[in-house]
Amino acid sequence: MQKEGEEAEAEGMSIVPPATIPLGDDEPIECLIHFAQIHETFRKAEIDALAVLHGIEVVWTGYSDDSPYATLLLPSRTSARTLVSRSILTKAIYELWATSPTLPHLHTTIQQRTPHLWPRLTPHPFKFTIETYNSSHTSAAQLALINTFSYLPLTGPISLHNPTTTFTLLESYTPHSPTPHTLHFGLRLAPGARHLPDTYDLKKRTYIGTTSMDAALSLITANLSLCAASKLIYDPFAGTGSFLVSAAAFGAHTWGSDIDGRQIRGKPGGPGVKDNFVQYGLTDAYIDGFVSDLTNTPVVAGGRRFLDAVVCDPPYGVREGLKVLGSRDREKGREAVVRDGVLRHL
Ligand SMILES: C[S@@+](CC[C@H](N)C(=O)[O-])C[C@H]1O[C@@H](n2cnc3c(N)ncnc32)[C@H](O)[C@@H]1O
Repeated sequence: MQKEGEEAEAEGMSIVPPATIPLGDDEPIECLIHFAQIHETFRKAEIDALAVLHGIEVVWTGYSDDSPYATLLLPSRTSARTLVSRSILTKAIYELWATSPTLPHLHTTIQQRTPHLWPRLTPHPFKFTIETYNSSHTSAAQLALINTFSYLPLTGPISLHNPTTTFTLLESYTPHSPTPHTLHFGLRLAPGARHLPDTYDLKKRTYIGTTSMDAALSLITANLSLCAASKLIYDPFAGTGSFLVSAAAFGAHTWGSDIDGRQIRGKPGGPGVKDNFVQYGLTDAYIDGFVSDLTNTPVVAGGRRFLDAVVCDPPYGVREGLKVLGSRDREKGREAVVRDGVLRHL
């Protein structure tokens, strides 16, 4: 049996797109994004970057780094699904039906604003879920809450694994408070891409080193850099290639260099950057790596722009030390390197 949504995310499986809710796609809608509570300062920036990448107009109506729930206006349901489809920091996006400080008022708002949508939803398989921030409910309390929505004329069967419509109540509590301060209600439209950091987890990667960048952070960076198919991405501090792998995961062609060729090659006889691309089936996306000191870089194009983005993690701090900031001898490293009669770049 196929699993979907958070169940699949938890197991690191690829996500099966949820069935399209039968509401058409021709109207602007208010949405709610349920964010993961990590890397908060990147969450809005990641969505803004994805909006640029996909050409989607986003109007934020509520965002705070302190809350996992943010609201925004979007042109259509399809654009909502597209917007979060590769977001690392989005758990799911919802079509927002109502927001309120109390449950009775939430019900009143739903009954005032949404009855015209009900006939198109009610014959289909459905389920209810509850998301709670800073609190939790027993199963019995959850069921009691769900039953307060009994005025929705739902005639379709309940389906926990393959619903057409997932109605969701999202509550925010102040810690230790018995009642929520804000409730949202909506329809789940699509999940984000929270499974990707698990797919590219460093613990399961063929070649890593002390400088390898955490998978979630490098995937977020690839999103911020608008990495995508037909883009050319360069990392001048490539090291073990973490950013190159993440850019390639989103379809970009990648190319990297490092002052220390051992980082790219790996230990003699052992794996190197190339082997990570083999592991992920991304060899077509890796152009190559080469040795280069960025302070004397050979990557010049006579003033022409040919890279779509430079994505990197420059050397800094005690671990890297001052010695890695490049050579003052402008001739050093410019001599051709020949090994076994062949010119070498790595
Ligand atoms: C913070 S690490 C980047 C790690 C990389 N993101 C990875 O996935 O392993 C910085 C890298 O910059 C390289 N580096 C230091 N100085 C450099 C220079 N002047 N030119 C090019 N690379 C340099 C180091 O060898 C190191 O691999």
